[in-house]
Amino acid sequence: MKLSNYFLPVLKESPSEAEIVSHKLMLRAGMISQSSSGIYSWLPLGLRVLKKIENIVREEQDKAGVNEILMSTIQPADLWKESGRYEDYGKEMLRIKDRQERDMLYGPTNEEQVTDIFRRSIKSYKELPQLLYHIQWKFRDELRPRFGVMRGREFLMKDAYSFDLNLESSESSYNKFFVCYLKTFERMGLKAIPMAADTGPIGGDMSHEFIIISKTGESEIYFDKNILDQGEKISEIGYEDNLSTFVQNFKNYYSASDEKYDQKEFDQNVNKDFQMTSKGIEVGHIFSFGTKYSESMRANVLDGNGKEGPVFMGSYGIGISRLVGAIIEYSHDEKGIIWPNEVAPFQVGLINLKSNDDKAKKIADEIYSSVLSLNIEILYDDKSDNAGVKFSRMDLIGLPFQIIIGNKAISDNLVEIKNRKTGEASEIKIDSISDKIKELIF
Ligand SMILES: Nc1ncnc2c1ncn2[C@@H]1O[C@H](COP(=O)(O)OP(=O)(O)O)[C@@H](O)[C@H]1O
Ligand SMILES: [Mg+2]
Repeated sequence: MKLSNYFLPVLKESPSEAEIVSHKLMLRAGMISQSSSGIYSWLPLGLRVLKKIENIVREEQDKAGVNEILMSTIQPADLWKESGRYEDYGKEMLRIKDRQERDMLYGPTNEEQVTDIFRRSIKSYKELPQLLYHIQWKFRDELRPRFGVMRGREFLMKDAYSFDLNLESSESSYNKFFVCYLKTFERMGLKAIPMAADTGPIGGDMSHEFIIISKTGESEIYFDKNILDQGEKISEIGYEDNLSTFVQNFKNYYSASDEKYDQKEFDQNVNKDFQMTSKGIEVGHIFSFGTKYSESMRANVLDGNGKEGPVFMGSYGIGISRLVGAIIEYSHDEKGIIWPNEVAPFQVGLINLKSNDDKAKKIADEIYSSVLSLNIEILYDDKSDNAGVKFSRMDLIGLPFQIIIGNKAISDNLVEIKNRKTGEASEIKIDSISDKIKELIF
């Protein structure tokens, strides 16, 4: 992509309405444009990152054997009246009437809808378990939308649902998602810590939030430092391995977010030297809630003895649009964003500092084509701005590698390659650029 042909409305100054660094940087880097409070449009650079995150989430769900579906954003209120949540949900739910005066709503979540899909066709234990997910926009009329895409009113979520015959089998589904989440976040360059969360009336230990440490997070977190060493080789764990032992290794260490935290328990279970408290961002939440919806909505299945009973369910969310902000909170410096390779909007930024020089332009054009032919995403700054503007813009948008073409390209056939994260730069002969870039990226 050539910058001269790209819609990248960068801002020089931090917008005053933004309180936290990720929100400031997303606005400054021209990633999003506010539509109204807590509602955003995604501009080209932001959309590329959102799609990258969405794809990682999708690939990992698929690998875990979860089936992708796509449920509607608008739902009939009748389903929510059946489960009893239509009244309970209160003002957070956006309620709509259609032209026949029927009550409709913009989905804040999909338990009712997916239970309805399930009960229409699945009647027997022979067809269990079933795992379904979708990636869809949600609307929650949050009391205090803030921090940009981190707490929006409209946001993109991956939500999955499991259906099992009994508690034991639903625990296997739960463990599968637990592992899948750790794999997913690791691929984005994040260390997400599973934290015990509130399970509501059914109790048990099958609710975890996945939280990344960040001083701007909204959750207060308390944990045993040793939990950070768990799951080191998460990418090597397969779904046929013993997941319950793996998950238990995490559960053995105390970790809880504010709503579940108990000072006494913390002191009893964790040696003072290992007690950690911090703030964190909730990027995912998994929750097993048994027969809560299947009972009220009559989603029953027959077991092996011909006995009918409500199916056991769980739900599993990942905040895809929140992750864009969360990754920036996790990875930035005073100059701007530092994208982890896997979610970077482009892998390489090419800066031509001598755009008025014919030779430099020819060199830059050739490097651009050869990097493109390697199937590497590259953003080519071919504009005529001065060097300062070009450098600060490229640093702001945070692509992992920069190729810089200046005077030495013209005189000595040398260009500079810079690593955005470490700041390390090296000079390299123009004809070895392709090899060097391949080495850095693949
Ligand atoms: N208002 C929001 N804006 C952006 N992302 C959100 C919002 N609410 C929830 N999410 C994301 O969706 C995931 C699943 O949501 P859920 O646990 O149902 O929400 P909550 O924790 O607010 O009750 C959360 O872990 C979070 O990453
Ligand atoms: Mg939650």
